[in-house]
Amino acid sequence: MDASEAGKRQAAEAAASLVEDGMVLGLGTGSTVAYFLPAVATRGPRVRCVATSLGTERAARTLGLVVEPFESLDRLDLAVDSADQVAPDRWLVKGGGGAHTREKIVAAAASRFLVIVSSEKVVPALRPPVPLELMRFGLAATLRRIWERGPVRLREAEPTPDVNLQADLAGEVGDPAELAAALDAIPGVVGHGLFDPSLVSDVLVGGEPGGVRRLPDPR
Ligand code: A5P
Repeated sequence: MDASEAGKRQAAEAAASLVEDGMVLGLGTGSTVAYFLPAVATRGPRVRCVATSLGTERAARTLGLVVEPFESLDRLDLAVDSADQVAPDRWLVKGGGGAHTREKIVAAAASRFLVIVSSEKVVPALRPPVPLELMRFGLAATLRRIWERGPVRLREAEPTPDVNLQADLAGEVGDPAELAAALDAIPGVVGHGLFDPSLVSDVLVGGEPGGVRRLPDPR
């Protein structure tokens, strides 16, 4: 296993040790979360889960975890997910796997949102691309507005679970709060991969010389 995978696994196992009986858990998506799921299942807590993607849902069920639809639960105790980039101020870029809209809904519904990453995901400042989920209706008009922020490229990928298109914005991120607000103001943008630090409760970084470290809270 290479250093990056070992770091993902360390962070995922540290997160699994924080799961307690009776919790309602939000499960993220991606290769880091793929280490978290068996680590939780092995510990065997009685938890109920919601999943941010069909892939996670299937993997969790295969491991014996109880996964429910996320329609009637209005609050989660803990959401655990990874990120593509984590800045020191805890802004995140997510969505490499295309599930960022659901991931943001789950993170925002959780009392605690725990981010688990390998050390190379911690960056001095966020950089492009920023993943986008776009409605097909009005697509050309939406793309024209996004182009004001830099080049945007549609992904050759399956539609999202909510049957929208995936794209990536390649323009400079600059001030993430300003870019996030600009993207939020474009009606055809269903979601973007910039996650505000106010969503993030803790970041566990694996793969460092001392093992797993908590990213300092800048607030
Ligand atoms: C999925 O849509 C993404 O937000 C992932 O959570 C993120 O890209 C991290 O993925 P890996 O754990 O696979 O690096």
